[in-house]
Amino acid sequence: MDPLKGKKVLVGVTGGIAAYKAVELVRSLKKHGAEVKVILTPFAEKFVNRLTFETLTGNKVFIDWQENPLTHINLSRWADVFLIAPCTVNTLSKIASGIGDNLLTTTVLAYKGNLILAPAANPAMYNNPAVKENREKLKKRGITIVEPEYGILACEEEGEGKLANEEKILEYVRKSLSAPLLKDKKVLITCGATREYMDPVRFISNESSGEMGFSLARVCWWFSAQVKVIAGFTTAQAPFCVEIVKIRSAQELRAEVLKELNNTDILIMNAAVADYKPVRRESKKLSKKSKLTLELEKTPDILEEVGRLKKNTLLIGFALESEDLINRAKEKLKRKNLDMIIANPPEVMGAKYHKGFLITSEKIEEFVFGSKLESAFFIIKRLTSFISS
Ligand SMILES: Cc1cc2nc3c(=O)[nH]c(=O)nc-3n(C[C@H](O)[C@H](O)[C@H](O)COP(=O)(O)O)c2cc1C
Repeated sequence: MDPLKGKKVLVGVTGGIAAYKAVELVRSLKKHGAEVKVILTPFAEKFVNRLTFETLTGNKVFIDWQENPLTHINLSRWADVFLIAPCTVNTLSKIASGIGDNLLTTTVLAYKGNLILAPAANPAMYNNPAVKENREKLKKRGITIVEPEYGILACEEEGEGKLANEEKILEYVRKSLSAPLLKDKKVLITCGATREYMDPVRFISNESSGEMGFSLARVCWWFSAQVKVIAGFTTAQAPFCVEIVKIRSAQELRAEVLKELNNTDILIMNAAVADYKPVRRESKKLSKKSKLTLELEKTPDILEEVGRLKKNTLLIGFALESEDLINRAKEKLKRKNLDMIIANPPEVMGAKYHKGFLITSEKIEEFVFGSKLESAFFIIKRLTSFISS
């Protein structure tokens, strides 16, 4: 289900100091199941060597036309996606101007698919007015630029110019390999655990990691949705490419969800909201006593409220039950006016793996036991068929 699996990725490497990072990048692409071919510019060969890439990819590395005058055409036809990382400002500007003066830039001219550039350069070079103009030109043409990050660079200057994080670049490659099934759709996802404080340091919460919500957000983004995540407390790696708003309590979560509801096509309520909160929140830390009685009250039922208020939003809820899982989830689907519910047992909370059932008014499907990313992919695929039907 990783969009990289079995896909042909053509990687261009240009002559910047970050060229050494392309070695790890190529290795990661291979590890995720992609087939990789590499083109080096003649300048890149001064920084990294052909043998390294040939060993890692198992394919011949291309620098010039060597024995085949149609190398640029053949490579452009071969690739499912074309990534240039790192991309010097020189190569970026040549691509913007339609120049083909080496094998890499000539292959770009012949290539008709998705082109992704991940530039890296000294901040002054990157923000040079000519380069800025060229970047804008490329973006207008629909070419993806994975913007460099802020950091301390090899030239010992600090600023925007560091090659984007490897995982972020891979996410852009995955997106360009995925069909834009959710293009123009606004997706709102809640995830993680809420906390309800009894005093400044103690709280009621749960072990939700945010893994499922973040996985759903990644898959929606791969499918070109505009994604926003409202996240409580999480321990999972947050996705690189989506907007994340942090909340702490059920009350804060409710306020954020209601603010967005009318502007949302798909709302996935995955946050593990604490059902109860202390009636009083002490302003000072409670001192130790032999016994403490805590009075609790219910937190707002946000899912039920949203089910009542929604107009055209598709609403997906989660049910975590120790007993009678399917029946309770089916009852919740109906009572809360949901379009889909994911029923899962308590042991999936905080775990890396997932299992359970996807339930709609029409059918019940069991998830294949696997990672939360695999289940997220299954859920979003079902959702897209829901939209198109
Ligand atoms: C040591 C060194 C480091 C360089 N690092 C970068 C860089 O990080 N980014 C960049 O855009 N150019 C960098 N350059 C300049 C490019 O190498 C130069 O523009 C070259 O013509 C690029 O050729 P290419 O784009 O065909 O690979 C560097 C040059 C040297 C000598």
